[in-house]
Amino acid sequence: NSVTVHSPATVSNLGCGFDVLGLALGAPYDVVKVSRRAEPGVSIRHLDGFGLPTEPTRNVAGVALLALLAALPEPMGFEVEITKGIRPGSGIGSSAASAVGAVVGANALLGNRYSKAQLVDFAMAGEEIASGARHADNIAPAVYGGFTLVRAMEPSIDIVALAAPPLWVSIVHPQIEVKTIESRAVLPQAVPLPQAVRQWANVAGLVAGFLQANYALIGRSLEDVIVEPARQALIPGLAEARRRSLAAGAIGGGISGSGPSIFMLSETEATAQAVGRELSSVFEGLHIESFTYVGPV
Ligand code: HSE
Repeated sequence: NSVTVHSPATVSNLGCGFDVLGLALGAPYDVVKVSRRAEPGVSIRHLDGFGLPTEPTRNVAGVALLALLAALPEPMGFEVEITKGIRPGSGIGSSAASAVGAVVGANALLGNRYSKAQLVDFAMAGEEIASGARHADNIAPAVYGGFTLVRAMEPSIDIVALAAPPLWVSIVHPQIEVKTIESRAVLPQAVPLPQAVRQWANVAGLVAGFLQANYALIGRSLEDVIVEPARQALIPGLAEARRRSLAAGAIGGGISGSGPSIFMLSETEATAQAVGRELSSVFEGLHIESFTYVGPV
């Protein structure tokens, strides 16, 4: 009585859409095996060498499952084995993937009792301990697949799955340590109205670009005038990475989540491969991983 889930990496924010937009990648992914156990509660095992905590209250998958268990009318127990394919702290939704894998697996064992929106809610409890903030922009695409918009979290979770044209994503993971908690600490607490206007115009432009399959509109609407300016000092090389990627034909991109990974979107596979090579060369000797992922997202 067990289920194995491949839970994908995700790119959140997508430039202007801080804490609300995200997309799911085909790779890498975490492999999360969830089994029933007789004793109520949760136990976690990591079959990878990242040294993540396995105490359920300190593990993102454990906390997510405990949230699901708290909602269940009957006492129940789950055992979880996690093999991380996603490097923790890389900025492509590592904690979200483990949390989502655990609740999706448990839900399958429960005959899919919970909706996707409820699973997002449970998984968010895990994300909260990892980043210190309740945000679902990595969790929503990991649960729904494709592009998602987290339209609201209160009074209840409102996720919108977005249609989009085929897009290719190139990602580089520079060897820079950026903790989500720290990269949220540098953000402004208030935003001047003209900047806010520009940002929400970009979010609307980006969504319209997806729906109309208008690549040029997508490219120019990715612009982030609020979060990236505050975070760019944490990621030296970002400006150069963008300049070279655009020269190689990318339509646009930016920081993946809270970084340090950088993502670029392209219209074709050949361009995405060329952009991936440019991204790697900017961080020559200083990147941990770089790969290109093949759309459609
Ligand atoms: N939206 C979040 C942020 C994603 O940018 O801080 C990181 O987990």
